[in-house]
Amino acid sequence: MTKIIDGKLVSQKILENIADEILFLEKKPSLAVIIVGEDPASKIYVNLKKKKATELGINSTVIEMHETTTEESLLNKIEELNNDEKTNAILVQLPLPKHINTTAVIEKINPKKDVDCFHPYNVGKIATNNKPYVYPCTPKGILSLLEYYDINPEGKKVVIIGRSNIVGRPIALMLLNKNATVTICHSKTKNLEEITQTADILIAAVGKTKLVTENMVKTGAVVIDVGMNRDENGKLCGDVDFSNVKEKVSFITPVPGGVGPMTICTLMHNTLELAKQQNAIN
Ligand code: GUN
Repeated sequence: MTKIIDGKLVSQKILENIADEILFLEKKPSLAVIIVGEDPASKIYVNLKKKKATELGINSTVIEMHETTTEESLLNKIEELNNDEKTNAILVQLPLPKHINTTAVIEKINPKKDVDCFHPYNVGKIATNNKPYVYPCTPKGILSLLEYYDINPEGKKVVIIGRSNIVGRPIALMLLNKNATVTICHSKTKNLEEITQTADILIAAVGKTKLVTENMVKTGAVVIDVGMNRDENGKLCGDVDFSNVKEKVSFITPVPGGVGPMTICTLMHNTLELAKQQNAIN
């Protein structure tokens, strides 16, 4: 029997614990989100983050900067937040407008306030199997789901489709650190299907509707769908052909209601973690 992994339920449980913990904190955690430009999807994500933070008792500020903002003014704003004792966590919503160098922006954030775990200091910690200040939101959310459903990646063959800095690369490293055998596939991979068929755990993070079909998965595999796409009718869907694949696997995440709620929940958890580190609370 296939189990549908319930990201809403798991995130709700984690969020309740976060809210309880915040209740007893003298200084409330504080998250600053910078958004540059008018990208509609980014605006929706940023509003969701602010709403969730407020519900939990996290102070959140959204800094909206104009599409034509210079890289220098953005870097200055980050510097200001780095130096602001009241700001525990900084998030710059991506993508940024083309005239701004994303790497320079990420590297400007103080690693101690890097709530996304995008800074090379924190990424390097993961790459060397050491602890970053906090772990990246979507990969950590996926690991929380696996843990909740008692799926231990140790010794398992994990295949990841996608090599983005936000999901594919960091989840590969984090699963390697948990002793999984990890393969990363991408747009230049030959015989994708042959590789995905060997996976005990298959993670799809490419942004292509119904890329993963039932012939690509092994019977009894665990399938994690990170995709957030729109189908031909404008309905939200993932990278996996859910209705067909679910008949063949042991566990699968739906879209919506799988990985999505875990990302925002981990962002809140990370904000709390950074605040505790900065205020020396164990
Ligand atoms: N854009 C899409 N996903 C993310 C994310 O996790 N963090 C940031 N900062 N921007 C994003």
